[in-house]
Amino acid sequence: MLDIRPTGAALGAEICSIDLSTEIDEATLRAVEKALHEHEVIYFRDQRISPEQHVAFSARFGALEKHLRVDCCKPGFPEIFVVSNVIENGKPIGTQDAGLFWHSDLAYMSVPSRGSLFYAHEVPHDADGRPQGDTMFASTTAAWQALPDDIKRIVAGRRAVTSYAKGYYRDRKSGTRPPLTETQKARTPDVEHPIMRTHPYNGKPCLFVNEGYTASIAGLAADESERMLKLLFEHVSRPEFIYRHQWRAGDFLIWDNCATQHRAVFDYALPQRRRMERTTLTGTAPF
Ligand code: OGA
Ligand code: MN
Repeated sequence: MLDIRPTGAALGAEICSIDLSTEIDEATLRAVEKALHEHEVIYFRDQRISPEQHVAFSARFGALEKHLRVDCCKPGFPEIFVVSNVIENGKPIGTQDAGLFWHSDLAYMSVPSRGSLFYAHEVPHDADGRPQGDTMFASTTAAWQALPDDIKRIVAGRRAVTSYAKGYYRDRKSGTRPPLTETQKARTPDVEHPIMRTHPYNGKPCLFVNEGYTASIAGLAADESERMLKLLFEHVSRPEFIYRHQWRAGDFLIWDNCATQHRAVFDYALPQRRRMERTTLTGTAPF
């Protein structure tokens, strides 16, 4: 029914001939959701939608998050998180440096996000007209599957500790971020998640530790935990598990925050503008 074209990488597919500015019927929506669970990252090109339509389409998959970083949300749209290097009236319009390290969204919460819906408004280009500011996606299902058995045995059944502050203070490129407020800190205590997480919709095992926010493995000595995490971070970002998305303005891309991790490529600078907007689906507690 849908025209789905897999990228040929370990994950990712383009869905053609859907216009998100029109009414999407329930059967089509369910087919899109099925494609997301199968391909882990899906995208629609050449879209033209308003912020209201972005929010409304996202909300058909379930409840939406309002990001902790209120300073980065679109004015009037608390569900829209702005990712941009644009400065207006001396103030950044969004977060300038999201995704410097591999991560999945809200992995640091006790209930991480199910998925994110990312709309490219403005995409930077180099002097030859080639797009910049790609995003890389890694399949955590493919990564788990390819782990050597002895490593699987060590980490399956174990939990890892995530720390928002770890990612927050490290994940920056453009000067400093404002220090975390007491409210932000109170909302982000360190939490533990299973290292092998079961995908809540298709039951596949996913490798659920990430370089951005995972601080340690519970129950292991510090040096052993560090060694194992280093190995797992290197493993999940191996080229064979990656799809690298080259953005075009008008791309609307959905990623699964359990089956994938992502990282931004920072190879652009002003006056080349990058302006993206994200909605974030509420998820379920990992198991
Ligand atoms: C995000 C993120 C990466 C990018 O918005 O969650 O990590 O390429 N973005 O902008
Ligand atoms: Mn992210």
